[in-house]
Amino acid sequence: MDKELMKQVAGQEAVKYIKDGMTVGLGTGSTVKYLLDALGKRVAKEGLRIIGVPTSNRSAKRARDLGIDVKSIDDVDHIDLTVDGADQIDENFQGIKGGGVAHLREKIVAINSKKNIWIVDKTKIAKNLGSFPLPLEVTPYGSTHLFKRLDDMGYQPQFRTNAKGGHVLTHADNYIIDLKMHSIEHPHELEQILNNLTGIVEHGLFLDMVNTVIVGDENGSKTYQ
Ligand code: 5RP
Repeated sequence: MDKELMKQVAGQEAVKYIKDGMTVGLGTGSTVKYLLDALGKRVAKEGLRIIGVPTSNRSAKRARDLGIDVKSIDDVDHIDLTVDGADQIDENFQGIKGGGVAHLREKIVAINSKKNIWIVDKTKIAKNLGSFPLPLEVTPYGSTHLFKRLDDMGYQPQFRTNAKGGHVLTHADNYIIDLKMHSIEHPHELEQILNNLTGIVEHGLFLDMVNTVIVGDENGSKTYQ
């Protein structure tokens, strides 16, 4: 089974958790796209009434195009469930997110959700985090100094740039620095260090946040709670 099919089965499985009347956080990325497609079909066919809280402009547009009602997080009083993708998940279900530049909004939505589900294809599962570069959203102001500090700490930083060589910008017009650490042995310790560095708006370590992981593989999907 190819990777796209594995993403699709994970997205289609996750849509079963969405019930009429729910307020649902909608993640970002190519796997979430399949969730949105399946959700749009349920809205159209079953008349499912949900409010979506998108974590990116991309997901907001796609949801609207599919007939899904969307609201900003500040216009809802709670979120029942969020379904999102991830870039890497270790064997303890700790994750790295932010490959799609949306991890600040994704984390805000996740921590304000009663339940979080991640949907991934099986290539995202690893023994340890870190072979996927860890994204940091950083303020442009002082970012060259923050970069040097991260370099001195041995974290192998790299500014994320676009095809024209300019900085990739986040929703809040911040920059992204990716840490190419290769292996993160102690994610909670790293989280504390990054939380204490001024200039980092949010990092892509998502620790102790997910309740359910749905993994698409060649046999369909497996659900871990
Ligand atoms: C965006 C994210 C995405 O959830 C993550 O990049 C996974 O995306 P995809 O499903 O396309 O692999 O964190 O910031």
